[in-house]
Amino acid sequence: MARTSPYPPLTRRKIASLKLLIPCVLVLSVSVIIVTQYFQNISYLLRPLWDTPPRPFIRIPHYYAPNISMPQLCQLHGWGILPTPRRVFDAVLFSNELDILEIRYGELLPYVDRFVILEANATFTGIPKSLSFLENINRFAFAGSKIVYDMLPVNEPDPGSRHQPFHVEASHRRSLNVLLRRSGIAVGDVLIMADADEIPSPETVQLLKWCDGIPQVMHLELKNYMYSFEFPVDYNSWRATAHVFTEHTLYRHSRQSNLMLADAGWHCSFCFKDINEFTFKMKAYSHADRVKQDSFLNPDRIQRVICNGEDLFDMLPEEYTFRDLFKKMGPIPKSASAVHLPSYLIKNADKFRFLLPGGCLRSG
Ligand SMILES: *[C@@H]1O[C@H](CO)[C@@H](O)[C@H](O)[C@H]1NC(C)=O
Ligand SMILES: *[C@@H]1O[C@H](CO)[C@@H](O)[C@H](O)[C@H]1NC(C)=O
Repeated sequence: MARTSPYPPLTRRKIASLKLLIPCVLVLSVSVIIVTQYFQNISYLLRPLWDTPPRPFIRIPHYYAPNISMPQLCQLHGWGILPTPRRVFDAVLFSNELDILEIRYGELLPYVDRFVILEANATFTGIPKSLSFLENINRFAFAGSKIVYDMLPVNEPDPGSRHQPFHVEASHRRSLNVLLRRSGIAVGDVLIMADADEIPSPETVQLLKWCDGIPQVMHLELKNYMYSFEFPVDYNSWRATAHVFTEHTLYRHSRQSNLMLADAGWHCSFCFKDINEFTFKMKAYSHADRVKQDSFLNPDRIQRVICNGEDLFDMLPEEYTFRDLFKKMGPIPKSASAVHLPSYLIKNADKFRFLLPGGCLRSG
């Protein structure tokens, strides 16, 4: 004991514990702020620990090269050849992907018998939406005789109803099933179920049309692109399906089979021409909760993100292993290839420059 303290021992202990308490409270509140601010990022970073990947698919190898006969192509897949081709129906729920829809219809026109398309006047989250397909119907006149369209009226959102998005989505699917039956589809026809931006390749549709013994239901493995075909991401798009139609077939956009045809087409997400289409999609759909700051919707920021191949929501990649997570971190590398893209896109390269290598600058 060197010197005596001016305080009695009890108070001294109180001061000492107070001195400890303050940094503890500080550290705690800073951590709370960080965790709430970055909760989504932290949970994505730790996804490999809390989430399990979807059950793996059984991939059907896909063969194609130009100028090989259909009997030979079918035979390479272990299938026979039909004497007459199946009819093909293409069913999509449309939101606002006008350019990519034009590419879809232009690409598939020679192979598809009916383009069935449903558009609602509100999003799943109840935000009113203009009928952009109907307003731009002239752009699709080239496929007009094959289009079966309907508008789904969605009621003004009931405030306080948390189940709204679920109900609206279910009513979209119901209405699409009604529309499909109205389109004249029959047992044995091919039915493609997809979002507008999930485009099967012509060679995939040809197999579906001509080959005998294809599975009743299979998923289509599509190559994922972001913003344009300049930014290939991976091959993990699986939600699109091809069905041989039966009376029990219902429209769905989820897991329906363990089978998946490999390399069956393209999935181009956020492949919009104008910045305001980006902001609409960011606010309107299931991504709405990811817009954590108003600055995310700033047009200059969106333009920069598109040209750099960065993430619109500043989020980490959704991956199930740390290896994939770290591999995908950071911007998507640019590709200079415009090989094996939809031929309608290449034929109309001037019109769709913004979807091709070097075309990232968008109009306001
Ligand atoms: C395509 O195949 C046919 C018959 O097998 C052949 O006569 C023709 O030369 C081929 N065309 C090309 C471009 O290879
Ligand atoms: C959609 O249209 C219906 C009927 O045309 C209308 O009653 C409804 O209010 C509209 N919904 C929205 C969100 O505008």
